[in-house]
Amino acid sequence: MPIDIISTVLYDGTDSIPGWEYLKTYVPVALTFGAIKYYFSGASNTWERDLHGKVYILTGATTGMGAQVAYELATRGAQLVLLVRSTEDIWVVDYVEDLRNKTNNVLIYAEECDLDSLYSVRKFATKWLDNQPPRRLDGVVCCAAESLPRGKPRQVTVDGVEQQMGVNYLANFHLLTLLGPSLRVQPPDRDVRVVLATCSSQALGEVDIDDLLWESKRYPSSQPWKIYGSSKLLLGMFAKEYQRRLMAYERNDKAPCNIRINLVNPGIMRTASTRRFLSMGTVLGLLLYLIMYPIWYLFLKSARSGAQNVFFALFAPIFPKLEGGNFVQECKINPKVRQELTDADLQKEVFDKTEEIIVRLEKQSAIERKKHKMAEDAKKPLAEKLREKNEEFERKSNIAEKPKTTDELSLKLNRLRQQISIGAIPNGELPLFPESTTNQQATATGKSSSSGANSRKSKSRKA
Ligand SMILES: NC(=O)c1ccc[n+]([C@@H]2O[C@H](COP(=O)([O-])OP(=O)(O)OC[C@H]3O[C@@H](n4cnc5c(N)ncnc54)[C@H](OP(=O)(O)O)[C@@H]3O)[C@@H](O)[C@H]2O)c1
Repeated sequence: MPIDIISTVLYDGTDSIPGWEYLKTYVPVALTFGAIKYYFSGASNTWERDLHGKVYILTGATTGMGAQVAYELATRGAQLVLLVRSTEDIWVVDYVEDLRNKTNNVLIYAEECDLDSLYSVRKFATKWLDNQPPRRLDGVVCCAAESLPRGKPRQVTVDGVEQQMGVNYLANFHLLTLLGPSLRVQPPDRDVRVVLATCSSQALGEVDIDDLLWESKRYPSSQPWKIYGSSKLLLGMFAKEYQRRLMAYERNDKAPCNIRINLVNPGIMRTASTRRFLSMGTVLGLLLYLIMYPIWYLFLKSARSGAQNVFFALFAPIFPKLEGGNFVQECKINPKVRQELTDADLQKEVFDKTEEIIVRLEKQSAIERKKHKMAEDAKKPLAEKLREKNEEFERKSNIAEKPKTTDELSLKLNRLRQQISIGAIPNGELPLFPESTTNQQATATGKSSSSGANSRKSKSRKA
């Protein structure tokens, strides 16, 4: 059949092909579009890894590139812990259910960790670290980010930090440093990988050591990408410094560090954040975005194409052999990076400064929470307050629950003592048995415990 066609074309000319005029006009156009699309879709990852039994924490996995990463990891059998703003959100519940069904993987869970709030990040990390024995963790993939459109006023996180800085840099810093013990405790033969999504706009970012988070500088509402770029640049510097600190950590088993943190630039994708950015967050902008969609379709990557870089950073076998802190782009390691990403002294300074800022912000927000709670409590009627106080006391002294503080521990011990008719210890000291209480009382009245013991001995001898 193809030979027939070729021989007809050779003997009778191309005009003998039905619809040749159309083909002549449209095929080159279609091929050009195909070539452009292929080129702008970027490189594909060719590495594979069996993920059965592996556990990953993912941020930003509800949409865009993160959702693609979650889908692919779940398809390969990994257990996923998706960090979401709220687990109460019915959309999140449906999303997790849907992902489980599509990937035939039931080991997908959502945990609350709102990156807008350092307290929420701490609550999640504390819960994670609270597991005994420590939970398996093969990697953390941070895809969540905020990029604000041009012309909008400054927006802030719960802690009052500019939102892009707060979510893209500070929350990731906080999450990963808090998860440090969990990362470090993994067995030495485990290939633990942390992937941080970055962006080429880091080239527009700047590092002002005296005002890292743009707290005192005027918000550039006509160029919000400056802050977005700065947040990604700071994230890159954090990756470098944190990797160094993890490398320097001496494990009990003296094994070398098995954690690698890498930065991934996925390229520009047609995701929710790009749509919001290009449409400038307006209805008219959205309409224009839709009209121009063929252009975006041609020149911008799909979330799946962008995610290829994340897969490369997670699967390629080269990474455990490298030092970490690499900049992955188009499924390759890009050696050309900004000067700040090679300046170890500056990275250390920025790391230390960020730690200080986080301590300050957490203290401030704890005070705010306390004030808020007191104001709320003041509004409540007396009966409700008493009921809550009783409930709180019951909860704290419930011996079936694990104590959270030493005060709670002594409360529970006292309750236990009462239950077995020993009597509570007023000053909250821990001794559980009457003998030690007697000793303590003896000490309090000036007599030595040994003299108490001697007198008991002499009494028993007399008897
Ligand atoms: N899109 C691009 O062209 C592009 C280019 C270069 C780099 N990147 C980077 O690639 C990554 C993924 O980008 P994308 O475009 O796929 O993102 P996206 O579609 O905009 O999704 C952002 C994700 O982050 C989550 N998120 C935002 N704020 C959060 C918060 N406070 N707490 C918890 N989760 C929060 C969102 O959750 P909700 O669903 O709850 O909002 C969503 O899942 C980002 O780090 C981005 O900077 C993107």
